[in-house]
Amino acid sequence: MTDFQGFYEAGLSVEIYDTMFDEEFTQQLGDVRFYSEYAKKDSLIIELGSGTGRVSCALAELGYKVLGIENSDAMLNIANAKRKGLKQKGAKFIKADMKSFSVKIPASLIIIPFRSFEMLLDVEDQIACLNNISKHLDQQGKLIIHITYPNSEQLKPGLRKPDKSWCSQVPHPKTGNRVLMDAKSINNNVVNQVSREIWKFKEFSDDEDVLRLETREIIWRWTNPPELKSMLENNGFTVLEHYSDFNRNHLMYGGQQIIVADKL
Ligand SMILES: C[S@@+](CC[C@H](N)C(=O)[O-])C[C@H]1O[C@@H](n2cnc3c(N)ncnc32)[C@H](O)[C@@H]1O
Repeated sequence: MTDFQGFYEAGLSVEIYDTMFDEEFTQQLGDVRFYSEYAKKDSLIIELGSGTGRVSCALAELGYKVLGIENSDAMLNIANAKRKGLKQKGAKFIKADMKSFSVKIPASLIIIPFRSFEMLLDVEDQIACLNNISKHLDQQGKLIIHITYPNSEQLKPGLRKPDKSWCSQVPHPKTGNRVLMDAKSINNNVVNQVSREIWKFKEFSDDEDVLRLETREIIWRWTNPPELKSMLENNGFTVLEHYSDFNRNHLMYGGQQIIVADKL
């Protein structure tokens, strides 16, 4: 059940996305560099949950042909505006669901960066997505998924208030005003492995008046490494690599998961 607008639907959370996750952030994370190591210049890359095009646009600038699949109009609008300003024209974005998109050209690489796979809230949806990926990957093609590997502290059952470290602020990219984002609550359902976070966004004027106040909800599902591995293996994939980060460090509880697979 959802009470608030979704995080990626509209408003401040969408408008400040690229300010929070800018080029410096991307360089530190190292995901674009990692994906490019599996990409081929003469074939298609598909990014699922492509958002504002943070990854797809960067890959296009490196000379790759990328198709971003995204189901939020607000995120797509930003991606399409960015695409127009690129020197290289290899990125394209379409509105579709990652579980059911249909594209005629097979891809040699399908990527699901930065937790987009976690937006699928049950195993049925995750498997539907993997089956659809299978249909779109060429025979030698690879799939890379990046999700988190949360620890027991992060996955404490029930409702709680996050600590202050969840609060951050950035300047609004258009107005320059200070925007504060603050997590109000987390509610972990450990049976379904689903977490529901409520966030407040405030935009302030120079005089510190609140100009906009928005509440957004993000719901995501965690998948532990053995579950992710067996889900892939039971749905037509072979797991080739499974890391904790884009520097290929060993899996670490409380870190992230980067999994590389190909078709059986
Ligand atoms: C965490 S953002 C990641 C955006 C981008 N991949 C990046 O790395 O910056 C997750 C994105 O997945 C999109 N999304 C969620 N569920 C989706 C679905 N079923 N099909 C397509 N896109 C989806 C959201 O709208 C959002 O833009």
